[in-house]
Amino acid sequence: MKIALLCLCLFLSVCVFSADAIAQPGSFDVRRHLSTVTRYEVSTDAQRHAPPIPNPIPNSCQPIHLNLVARHGTRSPTKKRIKELDMLATRLASLLQDQHNPSISIPEWIRGWQSPWKGRLKGGELIHLGEEELYRLALRVRDRFPHIFAKDYHPDLYPIKATQVPRAAASAVAFGTGLFSGKGTLGPGHHRAFSVVSESRASDILLRFYDTCATYKDYRERHEPQVEKLKEPVLEEITSALISRHSLNFKRQDVASLWFLCKQEASLLDITNQACGLFNETEIHLLEWTDDLEVFLLKGYGKSINYWMGVPLLQDIFQTMQEAIQANEENQPGGMYERARLRFAHAETIVPFSCLLGLFLEGDEYEKIQRSESLDLPPKPPQDRNWRGRSIAPFAGNNMLVLYQCRDKQKGQNSSYHVQVLHNEVPVSLPACGTDFCPFEVFKEKVVLPLLKHEFNSICDAKSVVRDVEAPKPCSWSSFSHHRQRQ
Ligand SMILES: *[C@@H]1O[C@H](CO)[C@@H](O)[C@H](O)[C@H]1NC(C)=O
Ligand SMILES: *[C@@H]1O[C@H](CO)[C@@H](O)[C@H](O)[C@H]1NC(C)=O
Repeated sequence: MKIALLCLCLFLSVCVFSADAIAQPGSFDVRRHLSTVTRYEVSTDAQRHAPPIPNPIPNSCQPIHLNLVARHGTRSPTKKRIKELDMLATRLASLLQDQHNPSISIPEWIRGWQSPWKGRLKGGELIHLGEEELYRLALRVRDRFPHIFAKDYHPDLYPIKATQVPRAAASAVAFGTGLFSGKGTLGPGHHRAFSVVSESRASDILLRFYDTCATYKDYRERHEPQVEKLKEPVLEEITSALISRHSLNFKRQDVASLWFLCKQEASLLDITNQACGLFNETEIHLLEWTDDLEVFLLKGYGKSINYWMGVPLLQDIFQTMQEAIQANEENQPGGMYERARLRFAHAETIVPFSCLLGLFLEGDEYEKIQRSESLDLPPKPPQDRNWRGRSIAPFAGNNMLVLYQCRDKQKGQNSSYHVQVLHNEVPVSLPACGTDFCPFEVFKEKVVLPLLKHEFNSICDAKSVVRDVEAPKPCSWSSFSHHRQRQ
């Protein structure tokens, strides 16, 4: 009976949690502060409360082609991280043993804590929450662009590409399941089969450029320690705060692992009162910032190679648009030409791609980038910033580039074409264009062509890697900017 009651209580508390899945806007919810471990619905919730977007598309314009670049959905921790959590369990047990002061209250969950992923030898897979994210995204995209998705499925009309990583491929399948649901003959959901194609990991310069660009891999390897150094002061400060709060002799690594645990618990299990409960609001803002710093320096505007290596992807997208325009102008009988190209990849793809488009900049940062000047680091809380992992690349985070054909039939004029960029389904303005409905010619001249000079093979050639002459100063921004100039 006791057990049954306990189960009921647990069940009820889970219900209460999901009913309240996202707290009211304005109130603090740790699930909104998990950088790139944020779930899609949590990330985009604030947008749904935002006022409607101005600049409606003119009636004379019709979407004719769509490019999607999406991150995989919510996934379980990777094998390496599962091990880290198992080690944390051991650490917590030994810290408790060393704590003899009975007047100190230890959070109840710490006693006998075991990782929910304890002993699992496999990780990194797309979980149900992640499938839902992509499946629902597909349903919304199909509703929003019925004209684009009106055709019968053919792999050349709706090519679906994923990286050669199971969670990305599974994300593509979840998306396709939604996109083509009701359009086939399989089972009660009238599903249909569709193909997902992957390039080999070793040669995928469109979606896995971060793994095929030698210059970038070298940069990343050499700067990871520097990023750790930047995070250290924050972790140190929080470590001493936790020590005095709980009289447990935490080390910096313990706190880093506890923050990792907090992110997993909050994002994957909706548990916010265990590991996350150890930190106060100020500390969570700081920890989120350290994660965002890392994204900035190793995947974002921190260094131009981070995003220049994504130029082949932009070029591929641009080419699909040109082909769509041409096919549309030629008015081919049967209309058997590509309508949408759907790609499923990683945060390492989405973040650089967003940078190529100039998203999430503020003030005069776009002009600075134009002049190859370095940007300041995203400012430390309590200062605000645009650069947030939770918005740029949450799970299932995505960019869509929608090509519109506009024609004024009465005047008998030729069609004009426009590009609309949606980030996580919200129209965004490209700084190079100055509007969120960019004339195709402007998109070509201002966004695409200036970037094409960064030719992948030459910027990614390991032989072109410039070694640092002097030892970089830790915590110094100038060593990064220095590097950029010499590239
Ligand atoms: C949170 O803890 C820090 C110490 O890490 C302390 O300085 C700060 O005042 C606390 N903030 C709140 C809101 O309790
Ligand atoms: C329409 O396009 C064709 C071919 O590009 C061009 O020759 C013609 O002048 C254009 N007409 C108008 C009204 O712009």
